[in-house]
Amino acid sequence: MKVLLTGSTGYIGRRLKEKLLEKPDVDLRLFARNKKALSSKIQNHVEIVEGDTFNKNQLKEALKDIDVAYYLVHSLSNKDYKELDKVSAQNFIDIANECGVKRVIYLGGLGVKNQNTSEHLLSRLETGEVLSSNRNVQNIWIRAGVIIGSGSTSFEIIRNLTEKLPIMTTPKWVDTKAQPIAVHDVISYLVQSLYIKETKNLTIDIGCEQLTYKQMMLQTAQALDLKRIIIPLPFLSINISSYWLNLFTPVPFTVAKALIEGLKSEVVIQNDNAKKYFPEIEPIPFLHAVKKAVQEIKTNQVISRWSDTSGGIWEKNHTKEIADAIFFDRKEKDINNLSKSNIYQAFTSIGGDNGWFTYDFLWEIRGFMDKMIGGVGLKRGRRDQNTLRVGESLDFWKVLDVQEDERLLLYAQMKVPGNAWLEFKIEDNKLIQSAYFYPKGLLGRLYWYALIPIHYFVFNNMINSIIKKATISSRQS
Ligand SMILES: NC(=O)c1ccc[n+]([C@@H]2O[C@H](COP(=O)([O-])OP(=O)(O)OC[C@H]3O[C@@H](n4cnc5c(N)ncnc54)[C@H](OP(=O)(O)O)[C@@H]3O)[C@@H](O)[C@H]2O)c1
Repeated sequence: MKVLLTGSTGYIGRRLKEKLLEKPDVDLRLFARNKKALSSKIQNHVEIVEGDTFNKNQLKEALKDIDVAYYLVHSLSNKDYKELDKVSAQNFIDIANECGVKRVIYLGGLGVKNQNTSEHLLSRLETGEVLSSNRNVQNIWIRAGVIIGSGSTSFEIIRNLTEKLPIMTTPKWVDTKAQPIAVHDVISYLVQSLYIKETKNLTIDIGCEQLTYKQMMLQTAQALDLKRIIIPLPFLSINISSYWLNLFTPVPFTVAKALIEGLKSEVVIQNDNAKKYFPEIEPIPFLHAVKKAVQEIKTNQVISRWSDTSGGIWEKNHTKEIADAIFFDRKEKDINNLSKSNIYQAFTSIGGDNGWFTYDFLWEIRGFMDKMIGGVGLKRGRRDQNTLRVGESLDFWKVLDVQEDERLLLYAQMKVPGNAWLEFKIEDNKLIQSAYFYPKGLLGRLYWYALIPIHYFVFNNMINSIIKKATISSRQS
């Protein structure tokens, strides 16, 4: 079976890819906007078509000779996501039809259309409708509500609130019912959808037991061995709640708002097709799913996170923009007899729980200020404490390039009046650390000048600390 997986760099796509690669009867092709965001092992062993769903020629190349295609494309980080997602789905189904694809499998959101339906869910429903609109291509539309897994948006929100707030005052929507599901079960449904015998369009709602958000938070507290008190307050508006989530969780204001709007309506399953078509899958209970997710985080086994999609960063020509950067801060140090590998390990360990070498409090303050103005802040941390991959988030940075024993390039996603990059490079037996800034207008220039004294201490210390850390690990090895 020739299978195409779109959204292969996304939260669900990365996990589904692992499972599909284990299937001997599946000949997998991946569709990705930037193949560097996939591991080098995948790049060398799996067929990849680079492309965008807005480019029909690239879609033709991706869908040629395909039997079944997974549609996991989603652009929530873009403010026009509703329109974009509709065009993207239409392009996809048109070209799938042209290429003779037999089946499209789509994972969308759970819920129904009514006056309370959030923009986010509406967009997911519209995408499903577009994908179901072609007579020649069957659409298997799996619909899931809150997905519980390490790194999923909903789980990270629930976990962060539960961990950080012993007493929670919550909006009245915490009493809304939902039917969550473990990410591992979602992946099982998606994989098994390849083998369904039915040839007509199907909508399959999936979920474990029905719970209110309050019950989910209390069960999460139980899984984390914490005692928590929840006091619902009727007057908390969507904006106040979103701001609250923005401050206390890694999720930025825009994503928090899109999700909170969805809490007003019940998201419970509307059909029993999951049992009918997948009798062998028994979804695990919520508590069990939370324990599994927590275990993955503790053991550094997180495969994907909500913040790891590109959010449009590949649309920029970073090489050109860096070359045009007006301001930069460059530091160099001889690496002497330290190995490249020790230096590389030291600078790629930056951020997250490992900290920023020194002056971590200054980074914390910058992260807090960013959160206050609705930015991503520092709380996204790192997916893995030891390795980095292209496209993933690292505190308020995105990893743009990582080349073993050579280079790490980060792009700033915090709110800043311009564009900023931070680069570590090993060249001619030297470690070169460069911060680049392209300011937007006068404010951008003032911002850079105001930070010069802070940069002086932070960047000098940073390069010295990298050398120091590399020296320590070289002595230990
Ligand atoms: N995650 C959840 O909690 C959850 C819950 C219920 C339902 N779902 C559904 O599951 C599906 C997948 O969600 P997800 O969480 O995995 O999404 P995600 O993490 O945001 O990933 C989206 C994927 O789409 C790709 N993409 C976006 N625009 C594209 C374009 N124009 N052309 C090609 N690729 C494009 C992204 O690539 P880049 O890396 O290049 O940006 C990324 O691989 C969605 O339909 C969502 O509604 C998810």
